[in-house]
Amino acid sequence: MTARIIDISKEPDLALAEASARLLEGLPVVIPTETVYGLAADATSPSAITRIYETKGRPRFNPLICHMADLAMAERYALFDPLSRKLAEAFWPGPLTLVLPLKSGCGIHALATAGLETVGVRVPKGSAADLIRHVDRPLAAPSANTSGRISPTSAQHVAEDLGDKLALILDGGSADVGVESTIVKVEGERIRLLRPGGIAAEEIERLLGRPIERPAAPAPTIEAPGMLASHYAPNAAVRLDATAAEPGEVLIRFGGRPVTGSEAALAVFDLSEAGDLAEAASNLFDMLHAADAVSAGRIAIAPIPEHGLGEAINDRLARAAAPRDQ
Ligand code: TXA
Ligand code: MG
Repeated sequence: MTARIIDISKEPDLALAEASARLLEGLPVVIPTETVYGLAADATSPSAITRIYETKGRPRFNPLICHMADLAMAERYALFDPLSRKLAEAFWPGPLTLVLPLKSGCGIHALATAGLETVGVRVPKGSAADLIRHVDRPLAAPSANTSGRISPTSAQHVAEDLGDKLALILDGGSADVGVESTIVKVEGERIRLLRPGGIAAEEIERLLGRPIERPAAPAPTIEAPGMLASHYAPNAAVRLDATAAEPGEVLIRFGGRPVTGSEAALAVFDLSEAGDLAEAASNLFDMLHAADAVSAGRIAIAPIPEHGLGEAINDRLARAAAPRDQ
C-alpha cells in the first residue's frame, strides 16, 4: 500500500469526503493539526484503534488523545469540572489537552484510554475540527510517526516514515505550532501539568491565577505523558547544551548566537534567528528531521531558554537525547 496524499488547500471537498469514508470504514487517516500531524481513527471502534497501535508500533499501555469538534461535543464524552471548562473556553480550539473523567457508556473504547477511567480530550484548529464534525465521532490521534521517532510537522515527514502502511494522508501544509499539545489535569484545587506543549504553562497560570504543578523529570509512567524517557529520537545521537560544536557534528543553535567551532560542523541550523521561542517550537521537529538527514554521527544543540514554549522544546530535546532502548 502506498498512501494517497490529498492537498486540503487544493481539494477541500475531496479531502473531507475521502477522509470521512476511510474513517467510517475503520481505517486510520493522517490529518494535519496545528501542533503535529495526527494518525487519526474512530475512538469508538476497537479495530480502528488497534490499527493505530499497529501502524505506529506503539505500546498499548499508552493512552491516546481523543479529538473533538468543539466543547459541546467533548461534553458528550467527558465530565468537566469548572476549572477545566474555563481552560477549554479560553484555549479551544488550540493546543491544550485536558485529562477528564470519562462519561460512562459514552462509547469511547477502552483501547483508546488504555483502560483508564479518564480520557485526554482536545479540540484542534481548522480542517481537523471540520472533519470530526463531519464524521461526528471522536478521533483518537497520536502523532503520525513510528513510536519513539521524531513527530511529523509536514505531510512529507509522514509519507517518508509511514507512507507504505497508510491509505490516506491529508496534506495541510506545515504545522503552525510544531510541538504537541500541553496536557493538563485538574485534581480538585490542584492543576497538574502532565506534558509541556504548545500553550505555555505561564499562560495557564495567568488565566487561572494560580500556580501549575510541573511534572518531575521525565519518567516512564502513564501519569507523566510523553512518557517514555527516550522519545522523539533521531537516528543520530543528540548532545544538549552544547556551547561549542565538535568536528563531524550537525549544530542546531538558537537566537542567531554564534557557537564556537561551527565552521567545523557538517551543517548549522538556527531554531529562530530572532530568538522567538514560538518560532523555535514550530521549527524544532523539522530541523531535527533535516539535521538527521545529514547523516552525521551526532547532533549538537545549543542551550534553549526554559520559559514560555522553551519548556516544551527542552522537554522534547531531553527525550531526544535520552538513552535508548534496544
Ligand atoms: O498535539 C497533540 O496532542 C498531538 C496531535 C496529533 O493532536 N497528539 C498527541 O497524542 O500528542 P499522543 O497520543 O501522542 O499523546 C497523548 C499523550 C500520551 O502520551 C498519554 O500518556 C497522554 O497523552 N494521555 C492520554 N490520555 C491520558 C489519560 N487519560 N491520562 C493521562 N495521560 C493521558
Ligand atoms: Mg507522539
